[in-house]
Amino acid sequence: MYVGQGVDRIDGKAKITGGAKYAAEFDLPGTAHAVLVQSTISAGKITGFDLVLAEAMPGILAIITTDNAEKLGNLKAAPQKVTYPLLQDSNIKFNGQHIAVVVADTFERATAAAAAVRVNYRATRAVNTMDQAISQSVTPKEFSNGRAKPDSQVGDAAPLLPAGTLRVEQTYTTPIEHHNPMEPHATIANWSGGQLTVWTATQGISGAQKALSSLFGLEPKSVTVICPYVGGGFGSKGNTWPPAVLAAMAARRVNRPVKLVVTREQMFTSNGYRPRTVQRVKLAASPDGKLLSVRHDVKTQTSMPEVGEFAEPSALITRMLYEAPSIGTSHRLVQVNHGLPTYMRGPGESSGAFAIESAMDEMAAALKMDPIAFRLKNYAENDPTARLPFASKALRECYAQGATAFGWEKRNPIPRSMRDGHLLVGMGMATSSYPTNRMPASASIRLTADGSALVRSGTQDIGTGTYTTLAQVAADELGLPLRKVRTQLGDSRLPSAPVSGGSMTSASVVPAVQAAAQGMKSQLFALAINHGGPQWRGISPETLALSESAVIGPTDRLSIAQIFARAKIAQLNATAGAHPDSDAQKYSKHAFGAQFAEVRVDPDLGIVRVSRWVGAFDCGRILNAKTARSQLIGGIIYGMGMALFEETRVDPNSGRITNANISDYLVAVNADVPDIETIVVDSVDPISNPLGTKGIGELPMVGAAPAIANAVYHATGIRVRDLPIRIENLLV
Ligand code: MOS
Repeated sequence: MYVGQGVDRIDGKAKITGGAKYAAEFDLPGTAHAVLVQSTISAGKITGFDLVLAEAMPGILAIITTDNAEKLGNLKAAPQKVTYPLLQDSNIKFNGQHIAVVVADTFERATAAAAAVRVNYRATRAVNTMDQAISQSVTPKEFSNGRAKPDSQVGDAAPLLPAGTLRVEQTYTTPIEHHNPMEPHATIANWSGGQLTVWTATQGISGAQKALSSLFGLEPKSVTVICPYVGGGFGSKGNTWPPAVLAAMAARRVNRPVKLVVTREQMFTSNGYRPRTVQRVKLAASPDGKLLSVRHDVKTQTSMPEVGEFAEPSALITRMLYEAPSIGTSHRLVQVNHGLPTYMRGPGESSGAFAIESAMDEMAAALKMDPIAFRLKNYAENDPTARLPFASKALRECYAQGATAFGWEKRNPIPRSMRDGHLLVGMGMATSSYPTNRMPASASIRLTADGSALVRSGTQDIGTGTYTTLAQVAADELGLPLRKVRTQLGDSRLPSAPVSGGSMTSASVVPAVQAAAQGMKSQLFALAINHGGPQWRGISPETLALSESAVIGPTDRLSIAQIFARAKIAQLNATAGAHPDSDAQKYSKHAFGAQFAEVRVDPDLGIVRVSRWVGAFDCGRILNAKTARSQLIGGIIYGMGMALFEETRVDPNSGRITNANISDYLVAVNADVPDIETIVVDSVDPISNPLGTKGIGELPMVGAAPAIANAVYHATGIRVRDLPIRIENLLV
């Protein structure tokens, strides 16, 4: 069995030797280069362009502006959110909005001419930050992909609470954060005979195909999207963002291939971000630690309605995390002259867990109760809001195994009581959870006489290891050595698969590969029975097996090569689709985890260093121990960034992002990261999908930031409720 083993990435060598081609690296003869021009005001109207300087510069092929851009199809009809700034009119809704594209024969010439484009504006009053309009919030129209409502209430919204009830009522905030994947967004677009081909960095080739075909008025099959490798997405490459559309528009205008690579600075204005949240949490508990009521009210920012709407669903996690007789949540949006927010690793859960898991820690302290004991006392056996049983839940095991590995029993509960020489030591924990998602997907397998298989699906490997895990599954199902199985992904002409988001790629695509393998098996068994000779005739296929590149019968074995030779065929093909089981709707489907952080705080300098980490996770069946661990530690590190470093800053007067680069926007780097111990508790989910996986991409980020904030409180006695935790918060 290859499934479960820590198999090396089959694309690893290509990645480290430069053989793996990313979107910007494809070479088409005659490629021209496009560079974006962006608005320098955040609200108003363009009154005119002055292109005299830019047009006179060498090598210029076209300057496409809001005055002369082609009209696109109905933006709202695009099946995937396509944001407004597609040069369709001269209104400005945020600083950094794309207002022109300059195309030249070289990147340098396009960059120089883009800088020479002069723009005249009539500025109007802008809401540049969420806090400038926080009192004017609106209810989200479309919430969390339409699957949930913005508000929820279980039990009495205002329960009568007995005397002696303990209360925690606090506001927690998280800032705007940007994904900052290593690979910037990039697209090469080429038109040929009315057909569009794009090489683009995306988490969803199928969605990009739908969006581009709808915008350019084409049949989906007239658009080919190619994306063999993605250098990180974290949600920023889930939607089809304006640069990909504008590259296609430019290529049509100049009638040659056009490459558009978003600069690092433009990555802060072109492809979404995690919006700021202001979260009010109210907890009430009896003196013995039973939660009596839980309220979590979220305000978060979105863009102006013309740009689009996105609601960070931060309180969804509170609906299912703990049992209480009264659980209420709400989400409201503040419209800001800023670009459209989007999904970012654990969208909702990561920001929401900071609030609820900080509040839970505050309540445990008020109760003088151990934080784990308090959580166990309010353990949800069933989903308290959906009122459904969990498909599987091994959170108790996560708490227990995590606590043991971490040495939680050594924690002195009194804040500021533990020291390592001069440094204050803090130990904190938090719960993690993320939904187990699944969507329909399809895959095909081709088997050739030499016993090698090619697995194909129109999914994409966003760095999680999909190339490898799909090959492992196919090798196991077909009884082939792993080196004989190749995977081909990232091409919209392949059998279709969903966006690689919501931690659902394995859950969606693996069942399709299994189904295709079943189809392949049936064909091989039929051929063996029909062509194997007298001793195979009349054998029931149920008695056959595939192993070591051969069909194994009761008395005999036939290699794949023998079968192909006798049947006089060169290859076999099988294609299959797989759909979520409707019975799964009767369950609440989530992965879980427990995060344990140890920090050391310098009491004079306010510097926080994370010194140890244990994360214990209930994430279902593991397909590849190595790539799973890689995702687990990646998510935890992303959470360290959220807790201690990451914040996008906006100038309140101009709406301009003031740290749009990765030297001023801080992320956790190797020097910030200690050894991370990850534990995967024994858990298989037989309901969510046939393989029992629960998704790993987002889960390990959830709960990481509050575990650090709780550890900082334990170390210092200072409760920081606004992320990121800064040195100045701890200087008292
Ligand atoms: Mo994930 S934020 O759904 O790419």
